[in-house]
Amino acid sequence: MSASTSTLAAGRSLEHWNRAAAQYAKAEGLFEPEARLLKLYGSDFKRWSVLDLGIGAGRTTRHFAPACGSYLGIDYAPGMVDQARRNCPAFASRIVTADARDLHMIPSASLDFVLFSFNGLDCIDPSDREAVLREVHRVLRRGGIFSFSAHNLHSVPFADAWPMPPLNPARPFQSLYRVAKRMRRNLRIRPLVQHRNSSEIMRRGWAFFPDGGESYTVPLVYVTPAFQRAQLDACQLRLFSLQDCDCRELLGAHPPSTDSWLYYLAEKA
Ligand SMILES: C[S@@+](CC[C@H](N)C(=O)[O-])C[C@H]1O[C@@H](n2cnc3c(N)ncnc32)[C@H](O)[C@@H]1O
Repeated sequence: MSASTSTLAAGRSLEHWNRAAAQYAKAEGLFEPEARLLKLYGSDFKRWSVLDLGIGAGRTTRHFAPACGSYLGIDYAPGMVDQARRNCPAFASRIVTADARDLHMIPSASLDFVLFSFNGLDCIDPSDREAVLREVHRVLRRGGIFSFSAHNLHSVPFADAWPMPPLNPARPFQSLYRVAKRMRRNLRIRPLVQHRNSSEIMRRGWAFFPDGGESYTVPLVYVTPAFQRAQLDACQLRLFSLQDCDCRELLGAHPPSTDSWLYYLAEKA
């Protein structure tokens, strides 16, 4: 990714996240793939040292901090950190202001698990995305796990595409809700993307688009899984699981999922 894209960075500023703290404080629950992590690695978490990056108002802190051997939650927006400490008073001393691009205060190979939830990696300027992955690689022990989600470029409604979520007959109401949400999102994003060269963007593997989480005001990074995998490989983080929002495994799946974002699990090689 090139630093020339940083003209679009204004919306991804510290000021934006400080202002968003009260709004983020309302979110308490885990997404299904996040809850599944706690089940999957339940007893391991009890002895693991865990770093939670970009915790916002502490949504994941509520669930992960009590489950872990040791926990550190960081966010670079002081407004978010204050809010997270208020929301999780029992873990206030384990919540600090720090930048995911520079984890110098954490010794190398000292952690078992690093989490960067709710597409936090996509809020970081493209030129710095790899810096975060390199820091995650450095602080993890060999075999340590990095879990994160990232916006999915295959979900973008380019002029030649109108991606919709798959219908799940087992969950009709949730399915219909998702379809309605996606229609709304497609209609909001379509005017921004219809004149862009989709084949060039898909070849490159990433682009900026807004999303509903920030009321379509903030350009965030969207990636293809292939791009993200190559970037993980370059940082010696081996992708071993890729899931959609319903926890369906996607590694090797074709055609690619059109969910708005996807869940990645990688281990330090
Ligand atoms: C989309 S919000 C997600 C918040 C939280 N993880 C959640 O799930 O509710 C992204 C968060 O990442 C934080 N963030 C963005 N860039 C960061 C960086 N370089 N270092 C640490 N945190 C960062 C923002 O301040 C914001 O709180």
